[in-house]
Amino acid sequence: MNYSRIIGTGGYLPERRLTNTELETWVDTSDKWIVERTGIRTRYLANNDQDTCDLAEQAARRALEAARVDASELDLIILGTTTPDRIFPSTACLLQARLGNHGAMAFDVQAVCSGFLYALSIADKFIKTGTAQRALVVGADTYSRLVNWNDRSTCVLFGDGGGAVVLETSVSPGILSTHLHADGAYKDVLTVPGTVAQGRLNGDGFTKMQGNEVFKFAVNILKESVDETLAANQLDIKSIDWLIPHQANIRIITATAKKLNLPMEKVVVTVSEHGNTSAASVPLALDVAVRDGRIKPGNLLLLEAVGGGFTWGAILVKY
Ligand code: UT7
Repeated sequence: MNYSRIIGTGGYLPERRLTNTELETWVDTSDKWIVERTGIRTRYLANNDQDTCDLAEQAARRALEAARVDASELDLIILGTTTPDRIFPSTACLLQARLGNHGAMAFDVQAVCSGFLYALSIADKFIKTGTAQRALVVGADTYSRLVNWNDRSTCVLFGDGGGAVVLETSVSPGILSTHLHADGAYKDVLTVPGTVAQGRLNGDGFTKMQGNEVFKFAVNILKESVDETLAANQLDIKSIDWLIPHQANIRIITATAKKLNLPMEKVVVTVSEHGNTSAASVPLALDVAVRDGRIKPGNLLLLEAVGGGFTWGAILVKY
């Protein structure tokens, strides 16, 4: 049986670092409120001349370098994003051109904060079936452009970034199982309702969120996703070396870990520094923990995320 295996990770955060204290100067909020309710202290924002593809490219180049793979060797590029640079071509195609690859399959996946998990799962299937040998999977978002920076209920939460992995076909695992779900009945709980037509934006182009509803749903569904993944692999939570959760709110992360009986020492947390970077959140956290040496070859990793849709899921990986 073929498996897909992660052979390199990369991450990129833009230079501009926005602190809670700076936010206090124009929004009716406080560092104390933001830290207590979300755990977020800073987030990074793309410059005006940086687009999603720029963040994706930096992350991708670092992942390719770590994997010692040349972009020309890729036969699949999947990019999870909610903030594509153009309506078309896909940001994956824009990235492909930047990297100088010609001919690989390339497409975007839109599953908001679950985008990287969806992309990784699809790439895994392509590799497992022998259709692809070497894939670049990216999660990148300039989500700061979808928030109204005067709306304190949303703007304090989000930041920009990119994360990437290179996957290769392997006889040993690798990605062990992927579990994806969605329920469009929740379409209005977390949404950017606007659309582009007739050459202009129709409706609202900013994030609308029922924060409490998202919070409650997230904690329950993330625990369920982890339980589903463990059951499918006949594993106990004690076998997991690292949980790499979507980084939306430290309270969601700690509540989920508590429900799972998982000590926080086994959870990778970057939300305090990165904020919620949407599709970039999980691969960025993965890259941080790989590069600082916490994640070691052979470790069992559980990736999980939830986002607008709702979309959600979990992936079990032997690193
Ligand atoms: O990837 C998924 C994306 N979204 C999420 O994960 C969001 C999930 N939800 C959350 O993280 C939390 O619900 C929030 C952080 C958004 C809000 O925290 P909360 O504990 O649920 O607060 P709340 O919405 O119940 O608001 C409590 C109070 C309200 O004031 P009153 O009505 O009690 O007077 C808000 O107006 O806090 C107020 N408030 C703020 N105060 C200072 C809301 N935002 C802020 C703010 N600064 N930034």
